[in-house]
Amino acid sequence: MRLMKQLAMPVVAGLLATTGAFAQSINYVPDANIERRVEQTLSRMTLEEKVGQMTELAIDVLGHWEGEKFVLDKDKMDNAFMRYKIGSVLNTPGPVAQTPEWWQQTIRTINDYSLRACGIPTVYGLDQNHGATYTLRGTLFPQNTNLGASFDPDLARRAASITAYETRAANCPWTYSPTVDLSRDPRWPRVWENFGEDCLLSTVIGKAMVEGFQGPDPNHIDKYHIGTSMKHYMAYGIPRTGKDRTPAYLPEWELREKHFAPFKACVEAGATSVMVNSASINGTPMHINAKYLTQWLKEETGWDGMIVTDWADIENLWKREMVAANKKDAICLAINAGIDMAMEPFNLDFCDLLIEAVREGRVPMTRIDDAVRRILRMKYRMGLFDMPNTDIKDYPKYGGEEHRLAAQDAAVQTMILLKNKGILPLKQGQKILVTGPNANSMRCLNGGWSYTWQGKDADKFASSHNTILEAMQQRFGNANIVYEPGVTYNNDGLYWEENEPQIDRAVRAAAQVDVILACVGENSYAETPGNLDDLALSAKQRDLVKALAKTGKPIVLVLNEGRPRLISDIEPLAEAVVNILLPGNEGGNALARLLAGVDNFSAKMPYTYPRYSASLTTYDYRVSEMTGTMEGAYDYNAQVDVQWPFGFGLSYTTFDYSNLRVDKTEFSAGDVLNVSVDVKNTGSRAGKESVLLFSRDIVASIIPEARRLRAFTKIDLQPGEQRTVTFSLPANDLAFVGYDDQRHLEPGEFVLQIANQAVHINCR
Ligand code: BGC
Repeated sequence: MRLMKQLAMPVVAGLLATTGAFAQSINYVPDANIERRVEQTLSRMTLEEKVGQMTELAIDVLGHWEGEKFVLDKDKMDNAFMRYKIGSVLNTPGPVAQTPEWWQQTIRTINDYSLRACGIPTVYGLDQNHGATYTLRGTLFPQNTNLGASFDPDLARRAASITAYETRAANCPWTYSPTVDLSRDPRWPRVWENFGEDCLLSTVIGKAMVEGFQGPDPNHIDKYHIGTSMKHYMAYGIPRTGKDRTPAYLPEWELREKHFAPFKACVEAGATSVMVNSASINGTPMHINAKYLTQWLKEETGWDGMIVTDWADIENLWKREMVAANKKDAICLAINAGIDMAMEPFNLDFCDLLIEAVREGRVPMTRIDDAVRRILRMKYRMGLFDMPNTDIKDYPKYGGEEHRLAAQDAAVQTMILLKNKGILPLKQGQKILVTGPNANSMRCLNGGWSYTWQGKDADKFASSHNTILEAMQQRFGNANIVYEPGVTYNNDGLYWEENEPQIDRAVRAAAQVDVILACVGENSYAETPGNLDDLALSAKQRDLVKALAKTGKPIVLVLNEGRPRLISDIEPLAEAVVNILLPGNEGGNALARLLAGVDNFSAKMPYTYPRYSASLTTYDYRVSEMTGTMEGAYDYNAQVDVQWPFGFGLSYTTFDYSNLRVDKTEFSAGDVLNVSVDVKNTGSRAGKESVLLFSRDIVASIIPEARRLRAFTKIDLQPGEQRTVTFSLPANDLAFVGYDDQRHLEPGEFVLQIANQAVHINCR
């Protein structure tokens, strides 16, 4: 029965109104000794030194190239450190990855300058976005989109902890990860850098990664761990145009409930820093939004970490966003709003202008002190004052076999089986045509942020790893594999450019084989160069699959892409579809293991895969965004047909769900609901299954969502084995944020759902 909801009733002061007192919620206690040392250091600093600490430069402006080698220049270093006392350096020169030995020496030299200049070590930051992005010979894991598809926080924590180890081995203490933007628009070129479209999934995986990177104690990050800078705060993933770094517009209640949630959880867990969304929300660039930077992120939570801009985003305030007339105005707006460190990254005029602004009374000294305190605290927490540099000898596992196998396991667990009409696993001895532009490319397996920003040189740097083709040859035998790509990318051009296709050759090759492995998708890209005009998979690649289908040979379609490219016209032509997303250096081996049936599939879609270009949605749409036919004169309807829903993924075994039950069918706000379900492996082989608990609020004063993920866990079941999974769900988690920025749990009916099971409960 549908129950009418009463007037919206505030539940508790968990997330509070934007005015008035708030209960601070960080779940670590600052270290009194560190706080004392921060104050001592701060008390002896000049204004110039303080502003220097707030400045971050790219390494490119501190040196020059001598052939293949980048070297630091004494005069540039003297200027930056001795004169301006800058506090931080970022990025790899080029940007192209360097050896850990080079990093050891380079960061040590930078620290020598910094310590001589003002007695404060530098904090060096690198985008180790999916492992050893910028440290050569290290381990590259699957991209974050894959980690989301694992629905497994332990797997993500392990990837982060290995990345931390290898980053610290290179003497770098800080990474601009994890990325917890919600990928809610498939057009956006950074979909793959995140854990998917859902806020709970992003919160759980993001928090696990912060723990993996930083280790157990946010006050004391040891020499095997690194500080994090979560990014990009916030709502970066929903630009109205779909283009990177362009404005987002959304109601504040949705911002609070969804986009803020992962950042809140991670800063409460002690993330050392946060990087800001380069773009704007509702007309205000995030870099000048005092409410979101200072009030929400710092004051409400009590978080004592540090906020850094994204690349050149103070410049962008006056050059791109047009909210300031000149750079000094832009600096005042950003620093007063709560920015602590400016990723300049090329200019030192930031320092001169900020010093002037302080002297003119436009930026209060208290704000400068607050910013510097946060920066110093981060450096103390990373242990840099006591041990500014690491010793590479302490890191014997760097890029070794143990880490490679961890990356392979991660890749295995993050590839999604979307369709299988019984053709998989492939049988040994079958002859296989490996085709498509993604079949023989380490660049495609890795995506962007791999050795270089755009990932273009991965085939050079990762040549010792197997492409899909090479892994298939090894696993199924050279004699059984025929390779004819049919379509190839122009690797010297823009990421979407392809060469003149040779589809006929692939079709001819298909005559010799039993099955076709068509590896399609995207070439690598990152950020704005990855913008697109058409969400469909390239016409040439679709033509290839259509031509191959005419041969009558069964097709296994492998999708290797950073975001969901539309394939609704070729999907029906495939007997099986595997979405490997961007699985990293071990992606080829992992796929071959899965296709051979050595391992089982267990991943699920971390976002909704659209079927049509004008039918874009997320699983948690508001119910009236999707309606069936409303019969009448005009038969209104609004239907959105998707290719694969969020949370969808198959296995070589089958799971049967039964007996969903909850210990309370009537509940109140403070209750905990114990929700149980029996899951049985009804197939003939072992398999892992992510069990997802969704809720639906039947009637609410803000249009309710079709479903919301409330909890999930991954279990491992032997054939025939049954297990009871129990979730303890605080009833308050069913609340939503209202127009008043308060959480509301309204009386009435809710449905809890796990797989094909549902149970109705009622809030008093
Ligand atoms: C990106 C960030 C990155 C930063 C530093 C920016 O362009 O948006 O994700 O961390 O550069 O490399």
